[in-house]
Amino acid sequence: MMEWLGLVAASTYAKDIDFVFNLIFWITAFWFLLAEGVFFYLIFRFRKKAGVPGQYITGELASEKRWITIPHFAVLLFDVVILFFAVKVWYEVKQNLPQAPDQQIVRVIAQQWAWTFVHPGPDGKLDTPDDITTVNELHVEVDKLHVFKLESKDVLHDFSVPVFRLKQDAIPGRVITGWFTPTKTGNYDIQCAEICGIGHALMPARMIIEAAPEHAEWLAKNSNLAVASATAR
Ligand code: CUA
Repeated sequence: MMEWLGLVAASTYAKDIDFVFNLIFWITAFWFLLAEGVFFYLIFRFRKKAGVPGQYITGELASEKRWITIPHFAVLLFDVVILFFAVKVWYEVKQNLPQAPDQQIVRVIAQQWAWTFVHPGPDGKLDTPDDITTVNELHVEVDKLHVFKLESKDVLHDFSVPVFRLKQDAIPGRVITGWFTPTKTGNYDIQCAEICGIGHALMPARMIIEAAPEHAEWLAKNSNLAVASATAR
């Protein structure tokens, strides 16, 4: 449904999140249509008729109470189904931290009102001299596991990447670890999804997902060492 609405799914877990979204949507749609159907049927069926006196129903008979208890337990059962899948997906996305030998660790720093991204540079290691720091532009490689370290310099922000179906609050004083594996190349939105002051709406950024050769080229061209040697020349 999200893709049908035009939102591309570009991470390994986007489809799992969409599944839960669709599940909740269709269960809600089912109950809505059923409830409205019964409602209008009863209004029509028992509408005012000449010669038929109104009936006062207390709802105390077992046959009447069934109209409450059966849907009640059915709704609870559907809730358990939603809960089962929601917890399963939550665990996979938020509790589980996959590992890969070639994973990239990126630092994401939120502040009023911009994003700073620190990329590991060509050596693949963070906090080394060839790191690449950018503002409002995160470059990642497609099909590669990325672990992010999310920080905030001032207030609550939220690192939201709609095409990944990723949303993570940034909390001042904490470093929050999360992950994603992009599955499609392209240029996508990053948004701050937590009201963080007057400039909150002006806190977008870009997620640039590149194929391996383009990404390697970007890293080589933009690493702090490459930039330093170019300016020294
Ligand atoms: Cu940062 Cu809203």
